[in-house]
Amino acid sequence: MKKIIVIPGDGIGQEITASAVKVLRKVDAKFNIGMEFDYRDAGGTSYEKFGTPLTDEALDACKKADGVLFGAVGGKKWDSLPVHLRPEKAIFGLRKGLGLFANLRPTKVYPELVNSSPLKPELVGGSDLLIVRELVGGIYFGPRCESETKDGVEQAWDTEIYSVPEIERITRLAFETARLRRGKVTSVDKANVLAASRLWRKVVVDVAKNFPDVELNHLYVDNAAMQLVLNPAQFDVIVTNNIFGDILSDEAAVIGGSIGLMPSASIGELTSLYEPIHGSAPDIAGKGIANPMGTILSAAMLLRYSLNRSAAAAVIETAIERTLADGYRTADIFTDGFKRIGTDEATEIICNNI
Ligand code: IPM
Ligand code: MG
Repeated sequence: MKKIIVIPGDGIGQEITASAVKVLRKVDAKFNIGMEFDYRDAGGTSYEKFGTPLTDEALDACKKADGVLFGAVGGKKWDSLPVHLRPEKAIFGLRKGLGLFANLRPTKVYPELVNSSPLKPELVGGSDLLIVRELVGGIYFGPRCESETKDGVEQAWDTEIYSVPEIERITRLAFETARLRRGKVTSVDKANVLAASRLWRKVVVDVAKNFPDVELNHLYVDNAAMQLVLNPAQFDVIVTNNIFGDILSDEAAVIGGSIGLMPSASIGELTSLYEPIHGSAPDIAGKGIANPMGTILSAAMLLRYSLNRSAAAAVIETAIERTLADGYRTADIFTDGFKRIGTDEATEIICNNI
């Protein structure tokens, strides 16, 4: 049996993970995978029950699983809690605890949605890129000081820090992934200013020597941000550090037309975790209108990367494409002339397309 821990989390996390589990059960029956689902809490929901955003027990269960399907965490209700009790803390606990060193965020412009993109269709058409973001290092986890006084003035600081092995492993993964796609890697850094970026670039160049079949180029992050809106179709795999990846992946996500459609995989040393890249959207939670496609596509990534079931993953991806091609749209991507559907209806249609 393949054990999947499902962590619905907060807000629409509940609805969208329920939807993805339904789709997984359907695929499980069709492909005879033998999947078993077990549920745990995280974020505000966990705080309410256990007084902490992530229990050791939940983390341990994830460590022992074959994959983790995660919804979203966060909500106004918990915004004023001290930092160590806030829902986001669950995300960092899982990232560190499971050693989720690589975050894969694909952006694909579906032909059916090309008009929903904020960019001109002739610019975005055909774009299909993957951001490989380093997830457990850099300025997110470097030494920091919340407040100190120097010469009578208050200041605060964070540290961007990367070691050679940290850069090597994310770079290798980016090149291996590029081999399965169109064979091109763009490394993004700020080597004209930052020491950690200069080391980044040097290590990327070294690792690239083992992948002569993959094309490599380098961009400074400011230029990369510009190129993403000028000509997104030039990119195949983008590899970058934690903070640049955070920023660029939000930019890339909207190019496709809706953040509600974008999945992600966080590849770990122990277990990998899959989640949509959007948040818990408390404003629409419980209304049955959330787009479950980002989570369902994340479930497809789980099948591909954690269970080695590419064919099953592809069936889900095709079912989503077919749903869009048939004119069904959830509220976030609805425009006049299409058929408006809610979360349950979307789930049912996608299941029927499997
Ligand atoms: C993301 C999010 C998180 C991050 C936040 C919620 C801490 O923006 O997963 O991209 O910055 O990594
Ligand atoms: Mg982010």
